[in-house]
Amino acid sequence: MQKIEFDKDFLWGCATASYQVEGAIDEDGRQPSIWDTFCKKDGAILHGDDGSIAADQYHRYKEDVQLMSELNFQAYRFSIAWPRVLPEGRGEVNQKGLAYYINLSKELHLKGIKVVATLYHWDLPQILQDEGGWAVRSTAYAFADYAKVCFEALGPYVDQWITLNEPFCAAYLGYLYGEHAPGIKNPQKAFQAVHYLNLAHGLAVKEYKKSGLRVPIGTTLNPSLPRPASRKAEDEKAALYARSIFTDVFLYPLVGKGYPKEVTEDMHISFPILDGDMEIIAQPIDFIGINYYMERAVVLDETKPFLHREVPSWQRATNQDWPIVPYGLLRILKYFDQVTNGLALYITENGCANDDVLQDGRVHDHFRCDYLNEHLAACKKAIDEGVNLKGYFVWSFMDNFEWAWGYSRRFGIVYVDYETQERFPKDSAYMMRDIISGYCEY
Ligand code: NOJ
Repeated sequence: MQKIEFDKDFLWGCATASYQVEGAIDEDGRQPSIWDTFCKKDGAILHGDDGSIAADQYHRYKEDVQLMSELNFQAYRFSIAWPRVLPEGRGEVNQKGLAYYINLSKELHLKGIKVVATLYHWDLPQILQDEGGWAVRSTAYAFADYAKVCFEALGPYVDQWITLNEPFCAAYLGYLYGEHAPGIKNPQKAFQAVHYLNLAHGLAVKEYKKSGLRVPIGTTLNPSLPRPASRKAEDEKAALYARSIFTDVFLYPLVGKGYPKEVTEDMHISFPILDGDMEIIAQPIDFIGINYYMERAVVLDETKPFLHREVPSWQRATNQDWPIVPYGLLRILKYFDQVTNGLALYITENGCANDDVLQDGRVHDHFRCDYLNEHLAACKKAIDEGVNLKGYFVWSFMDNFEWAWGYSRRFGIVYVDYETQERFPKDSAYMMRDIISGYCEY
């Protein structure tokens, strides 16, 4: 039995994303995003699911905010759907789209819950994809214009801004592996996307600085720091390669270190950099958000494009076969602390999918309780070791559309009955309530 205590000012939040929970894809002027298109592609999404209804948060946000409040959450991280705000990608602003986020924010504030808004959680307007999406430079500038619209309209309501969510997934899952929208498999386009996503972040921060708003702004990465599978120097190199291509290509430019030489020299990958880009990307920000789920082990393999290969892990795994490695979170936090020189960090996502069973209105998801507790212990250890970790957002507030896995994977601490849209807090939700209250021993 152990009580993990966090400082009183540690921020406790829960998170979701627009396409995963909102539904209402045709309402109030929203136009299609790349995910609406991708979901229509045969075999792209398990069971042919899509986000057209999702958890219907667009209509049920008041009920959801009430539940967040009952569970003691102090902050809600949601994302703004670009195709609601600018249905044509750029240009004319859709006031009804903005109104939804204003109403949601007001409701949160009524309950004393902070508003943490992510500008981009993967739902690019399809019309911009038709122009090349993240593989073209103009999308980064369109993003900056969209960000400006959000800063102006939602500035009075947002307590913390996040530019991008997981550019790794947008670039690599979207353009290299083709598992996410827009479903492209083209390495050159993928590295263009890496750079233009980084640039988009920087341009948005530049806009933010001009806006006169003062609340914190940052970005969210999903770093992966695979461990070497042996003590051999070559496997340590493999781990470095994996970190460079999956994490440092996003992290280094943010802190003015440019693209890692392991990627540009050893992997011979180039990025479409123009004069001034790297300065734009490296603008000071207030924090970095980290999404963490798992860690894998790697060995050197020079036959692979990224010079390493994953080998099996031994740890317990989730129902997606994601090995549970809380210690990996500690490693990442310490790595970010070192590279950013002590910048404020937040866990903007952490959680797991589980085969939850609803019985008499309850879900006894002790597997998830264990997962969350073990990761919270890693957070606490990081803080004790001097890492400037300021808050933790559980993924997810509720079950939702888990991208290519559709509705088959439940990540929520609140169970959603998709037939009735009824919400049922799982045991993990009550556990979070008690952890936030400060009275939980584990
Ligand atoms: C990270 C993504 O940001 C989120 O959208 C997703 O649902 C979770 N990982 C779980 O896979």
